[in-house]
Amino acid sequence: MFLDLGPARRNRDRPALTAALVAGGRAIYSSLPPPYNVAPDPWALALIPTLFGLPARAVGMVPKLAPQIHEALGSLLAGWAQHIALRTAAIDDIVREAVGTGADQVVILGAGLDSRALRLSELRGMPVYEIDRPASLRYKADRLCELGVQVGGSTPVPMVLGIDSLAPALVAAGFRPGERSLWLVEGLSVYLTRDVIGTLLQEVSDLCVSGSIVALTYVRRDDPCPRWFRFLSRGVAFAVREPFRSLLDAGELRGFVQGAGFDLRSDEGRGDWVARYWPGQTGGVVLERVCVLERLGPRTAP
Ligand SMILES: C[S@@+](CC[C@H](N)C(=O)[O-])C[C@H]1O[C@@H](n2cnc3c(N)ncnc32)[C@H](O)[C@@H]1O
Repeated sequence: MFLDLGPARRNRDRPALTAALVAGGRAIYSSLPPPYNVAPDPWALALIPTLFGLPARAVGMVPKLAPQIHEALGSLLAGWAQHIALRTAAIDDIVREAVGTGADQVVILGAGLDSRALRLSELRGMPVYEIDRPASLRYKADRLCELGVQVGGSTPVPMVLGIDSLAPALVAAGFRPGERSLWLVEGLSVYLTRDVIGTLLQEVSDLCVSGSIVALTYVRRDDPCPRWFRFLSRGVAFAVREPFRSLLDAGELRGFVQGAGFDLRSDEGRGDWVARYWPGQTGGVVLERVCVLERLGPRTAP
């Protein structure tokens, strides 16, 4: 029997597998009714290769079982799908706050199949620069084209972080270093070496005026996470040739942040998000955290 792998099979370009997995996680929670779908992403299912969407389609067929499915997803894979839903909701709120307080351009590093430019009304008409490897961005552009979607203000900026320089490509794409910006670095830092994270934060800082905001996710080495899950997730990442390269501790993160001229405004994990989005439930495992950085003082010229 022919197994339709969808656009990933038909197109030569493919998204990063980790990006497809994360969008698959978003699709699962987007298929559940409230209060579970804390950050509905109607584009996730449409953007991912068909195979990655099967769990979300199955979940969407039995809305009455949503409480049981949510419960089961809390235990399955250490609550990974819940983590993706909560992380998305937390970063969506950071976007709303940053735009509400003056950010007027957005850069998404390691954008993968992020659909915020399409789904968040706050970003409508605002320039959004999406940075990822060329093949990932081509896949996404092709898929959106197949879906007949016009992505108004969003501009793909293909590059390999850690090899290519941020500033020339971004400025050529229209980014304005003299204006306030919001940067999303979601699910990326774990795939970069410490050196690249440090250099990247400095490059971002050089492109930011005072008050610009960065939302950065990172995996903390000292957060208690089941060893089997660390082992399994590292194994999967290695197998799909996107190996984990850095888990940070709190001191290292602070060093990078302060060294690049940012103030660490917040640093949150699962317990904070559960209290906010699913009040009454208990914490669970922290797989990754989101910190918010604010550029301090005047920008030095790049
Ligand atoms: C786990 S995915 C996260 C995607 C998206 N931010 C999200 O949360 O849905 C990581 C993304 O980072 C991209 N990426 C990893 N290393 C990169 C690099 N050195 N340069 C550019 N993109 C990179 C991958 O291609 C992938 O799309």
